[in-house]
Amino acid sequence: MARLGWILFLIMTLIASGLAYKFIISGETEVAPDGRTTILLEDSERDFLLHEMRNFLIAVQQISEGIEKDDMTQVVRAAKKVGSGDLAHVPAGLMGKMPLAAKKMGLSTHKAFDQMAMDAEQLGDKEHVLSQLNQILPTCTACHALYKTG
Ligand code: HEC
Repeated sequence: MARLGWILFLIMTLIASGLAYKFIISGETEVAPDGRTTILLEDSERDFLLHEMRNFLIAVQQISEGIEKDDMTQVVRAAKKVGSGDLAHVPAGLMGKMPLAAKKMGLSTHKAFDQMAMDAEQLGDKEHVLSQLNQILPTCTACHALYKTG
């Protein structure tokens, strides 16, 4: 009886770790013909992600313009729109399908915009905003080089 208990325990542990691996680390993916990783999404999840992406680009454009005009109010407003507050609306399914590395890059991008909004508000230093923007952009290009949707 005790042995059966252990076997059941082992099986449950294996299933749990398999699910955890799938949900947390690997996500729902396949290799794309161009060598990138395709994140397999429902249409609605893909629409959500791409909408979020277009908002990222709008923010980058407005922040860059804010730096040129030395308008830190515009920078703060634009950066706040794509900060971590955005994450509350992410569909749970989408989170589960994103590989861990992609989730990390997405999360750190939102957090970097939080920090930019805070700093621009407190320091009002456009040079600092520019260097923060230049730290964020490589994460955008790195993620695009690794992942696509499908
Ligand atoms: C977590 C990874 C990740 C990060 C970080 C990321 N992107 Fe994306 N982005 C994607 C994926 C995946 C797509 C879909 C590409 C595809 O299917 O070919 C995409 C698509 C886009 C698109 C096209 C949207 C459309 O409607 O087709 C834009 C614009 C974009 N990203 C801008 C950005 C900008 C700007 C940043 C940085 C501030 C950024 N992205 C950061 C993963 C990311």
